[in-house]
Amino acid sequence: MSRTAAVVPAAGKGMRLGPGAPKALRPLGGSPLLVHAVRALSLARGVDVVVVAAPEDEVDMVRALLSEVVSDAELTVVAGGDTRQSSVARALIALPSDVDVVLVHDAARPLVPVEMVERVAVAVRAGAPAVIPVLKLVDTVKTVDAEGRVVSTPDRSHLRAVQTPQGFTRSVLQQAHANAEVDDVTDDAGLVERQGVEVVTVLGHEEAFKVTRPMDLVLAEAVLSRRRAGGVVG
Ligand code: CTP
Ligand code: MG
Repeated sequence: MSRTAAVVPAAGKGMRLGPGAPKALRPLGGSPLLVHAVRALSLARGVDVVVVAAPEDEVDMVRALLSEVVSDAELTVVAGGDTRQSSVARALIALPSDVDVVLVHDAARPLVPVEMVERVAVAVRAGAPAVIPVLKLVDTVKTVDAEGRVVSTPDRSHLRAVQTPQGFTRSVLQQAHANAEVDDVTDDAGLVERQGVEVVTVLGHEEAFKVTRPMDLVLAEAVLSRRRAGGVVG
């Protein structure tokens, strides 16, 4: 048997969101961000296992919180680490042995559409060792020096904003984490690229945006209200 797992780094503090509970536990439409994210993952076809890296002091609470959200899949909650990368690494250690595809998804992307999760999983199952969902940029991007002076303007047509879930074969992802020479890479594909493994892109989705700053929560509430008004459960 071969199963697909969703690994959910949820141990961050949410400093950029301002004072309050750890970001994954902040409310959106009455439920923590993490609950929304895990619900979307567990609704995706083919996701059999969910492993959450929770804030260290909240492991038992998170397990209780998610036990009803994850009904068909198997749930494991571990304590996260000091960086996103170490939180993912800790979750990988807890993967059951029969998992061969892993989707890594930020708890901070609560409104990821279920179809987008499936798109990533399908691409890995179809043979890609590493898959990331991306969107074209809307803003022009500049590189600057330490003083903030503009150095160059990269050609926007070659740039993409990267979202999660990012999908990998288990062996590729575990190898990339085991060989990592840094400990604070902000996306898993970054580690995989360094191994020389080809990373392919699939289309992301506007609603898979990351809740990072206060205004993102305002937007997330609006998106959720619109979904609920349209009769979509969220
Ligand atoms: N994350 C984690 N462990 C950490 C840091 C981050 O599991 N030590 C998770 C976050 O919970 C989030 C995801 O990684 O789901 C993306 O990180 P980010 O948006 O940077 O969240 P925070 O680190 O919580 O926010 P900030 O950087 O503003 O403090
Ligand atoms: Mg962070």
